[in-house]
Amino acid sequence: MSKYLTYYKSHYDNAGAVVVYDGVAEEYIDLSDRPDIKQRAEKAINTNTILVTYKRGTRNGFKYIEPNELEDHFGSLKAVVGPSTQPILRRLKALANTKPSNYEVSDLNWRFILRNILRAKNLLIVGPSGCGKTQLVFEAAKALDQPIEYFNLGATQDPRSTLIGNTHYDNNEGTYFSESAFVKAIQIPNNVILLDEISRAHPEAWNILMTVLDEKLRYLRLDEKDNTPLIKVAEGVSFLSTANVGAEYTATRVLDRALKDRFSILEVEPLEFLEEVNVLAGLFEGQLEYDDFKRVANVACKTRAEATSNDPKISTIISTRKTIEWAEMMVDGFTFEEAAKIVVYPLFPDDGDVDSERVFVKQLLQKYSMDDSKLSETLGEIFK
Ligand SMILES: Nc1ncnc2c1ncn2[C@@H]1O[C@H](COP(=O)(O)OP(=O)(O)OP(=O)(O)O)[C@@H](O)[C@H]1O
Ligand SMILES: [Mg+2]
Repeated sequence: MSKYLTYYKSHYDNAGAVVVYDGVAEEYIDLSDRPDIKQRAEKAINTNTILVTYKRGTRNGFKYIEPNELEDHFGSLKAVVGPSTQPILRRLKALANTKPSNYEVSDLNWRFILRNILRAKNLLIVGPSGCGKTQLVFEAAKALDQPIEYFNLGATQDPRSTLIGNTHYDNNEGTYFSESAFVKAIQIPNNVILLDEISRAHPEAWNILMTVLDEKLRYLRLDEKDNTPLIKVAEGVSFLSTANVGAEYTATRVLDRALKDRFSILEVEPLEFLEEVNVLAGLFEGQLEYDDFKRVANVACKTRAEATSNDPKISTIISTRKTIEWAEMMVDGFTFEEAAKIVVYPLFPDDGDVDSERVFVKQLLQKYSMDDSKLSETLGEIFK
């Protein structure tokens, strides 16, 4: 039997916090009530060693070993604990604690997207523009350490050449077929394939994807090539797609029912006030006042509440993409009002009416266009 009980893999995350992974239990350790492990893990990081525990009398002792020594024990360690029976469950538990530091996502949505990638399921992410759908897929692939490949279906007018390939002519070789990047991508095991903006894609793209996304089939037929070979989708490949669904998105098409049926669906909601403040503070801390984050986030969240109310006076919202742009302009010296005029006004139609969407938003903005002392009072009042 191995002389070590477990080993801890430790590193600093992007925010500089210590992260410790228990190699035998296959889970991350909650360090808030384990200052002893945290301290030892830091030492292991700094000395480039691995922290292990062993049985010392009735208690556990700690020791630092060289990485290559760990490998000698690794096999026997596995034998002691037995093979992990539910690797996906374990990985999900471990990863649930390591949400991205620069991206706001609910625990449930985070677990759901990771799970779908681990299970190689198709996932369609729907929600309004600029609320983080595309970024969510990149964050999830990064957290899982899986390769990702991006295809913007909204931008392609010629789905066949994007998804299948092109036939070319060469004086020496005659006609020949060159496969698309998509054909190559689906043959790489564990690839995360992001089919961005599928709701804007040409229906021909949907037809081509039908067999690829079918759980039972998972193949693509290269009908442009001689003998029309079938390309199998490799093990572990997952397809994630994004869509803006709703009346305000004019260029989007109503997704074909059969295509939609092939996806699990994840609805992403616009962020709430505190989440929005966190995103802005994460990006611009030290460059703007905290009250600035609050008033930008506040106006945005008010539009989000209004647009989804029973009798909405506006038809669209200020997205996180727009709050970031707004704050960026303030960093460059534009005032709150100036930046709002440029970034926010154009989103809301001005038909000259006193009830226009533009007027509604102007009034909303006025509440927050005041000097800092009064603003603090207003913000205080609103969030009592
Ligand atoms: N939850 C979030 N946390 C951090 N940043 C976010 C979040 N949501 C959006 N953003 C930021 O807003 C911008 C837009 O995000 P993204 O492109 O992922 O939106 P989207 O939902 O895909 O929009 P569209 O439907 O227009 O493609 C990015 O800069 C992203 O970093
Ligand atoms: Mg997007």
